[in-house]
Amino acid sequence: MTQEKVWENEYRNSKFLTKENKPQSDVVRFVQFLRKEEGVVLEGLRVLDLGSGTGRNSFYFAEFSCKVLGLEISETAIKIAEENIKNSKDHIMYDISYIMQSIGEKFPVGDDSQDIVLDITSSNSLTEAEREVYLAETHRVLKSGGYFFVKALCKDGDANAKHLLKHFPGKEKDTYIMPDMNVVERVWAKDDFVKTYDKYFKILKLEKKTSYTRMNDRSYKRNFWICYMKKE
Ligand SMILES: C[S@@+](CC[C@H](N)C(=O)[O-])C[C@H]1O[C@@H](n2cnc3c(N)ncnc32)[C@H](O)[C@@H]1O
Repeated sequence: MTQEKVWENEYRNSKFLTKENKPQSDVVRFVQFLRKEEGVVLEGLRVLDLGSGTGRNSFYFAEFSCKVLGLEISETAIKIAEENIKNSKDHIMYDISYIMQSIGEKFPVGDDSQDIVLDITSSNSLTEAEREVYLAETHRVLKSGGYFFVKALCKDGDANAKHLLKHFPGKEKDTYIMPDMNVVERVWAKDDFVKTYDKYFKILKLEKKTSYTRMNDRSYKRNFWICYMKKE
């Protein structure tokens, strides 16, 4: 099954994906960092949400009067995201649009046009070749001084990741095929993560975070990288 079908299937028969409209807590912290530590005024900024899912993070930035574009591979996720906008009481005020496309292909926006790019656990299932496109495209579309926030799966110290890599290996480095769901996921050792991203961006902050993911009524402890970057 292609990764596009896998994700579409997941939104139609969701086991763990959220359809809630509350922002991811790491995104809330990132916004605090931008406003308090970097002195960023969000109003009017352009935000590109890669793998926007049902739009919870896009929606959060739109509440700060940002102009948000979400790129998402699942048609069902986009439909839910658009319903969430319609059902919100101030929907006319929000500037959010979604385009159905892969983030492993050329992005439909101009050079140096975006102030902030978000990748909240969305690029995990890209192939290595698609990841090169995603990195080059993010760099192309971000303005100088623009911010890139990535939350990605961490390999270091994650017993579940080690189990999955051993028993359900994927074709490429540090990937596994999630049983039942069939999604391919890339997990990152710190050195690899840094080598991959600092070719393009200045890393401002990189921290490891542990949280719990629910699937099939079980809770799995997983580690993530939380990374704030800037285009110089
Ligand atoms: C774990 S979900 C996270 C969704 C969202 N970022 C959030 O925080 O709620 C991963 C999302 O990435 C999307 N996705 C996966 N591969 C993609 C690709 N190649 N291009 C665009 N979206 C993709 C999936 O459909 C899914 O919505």
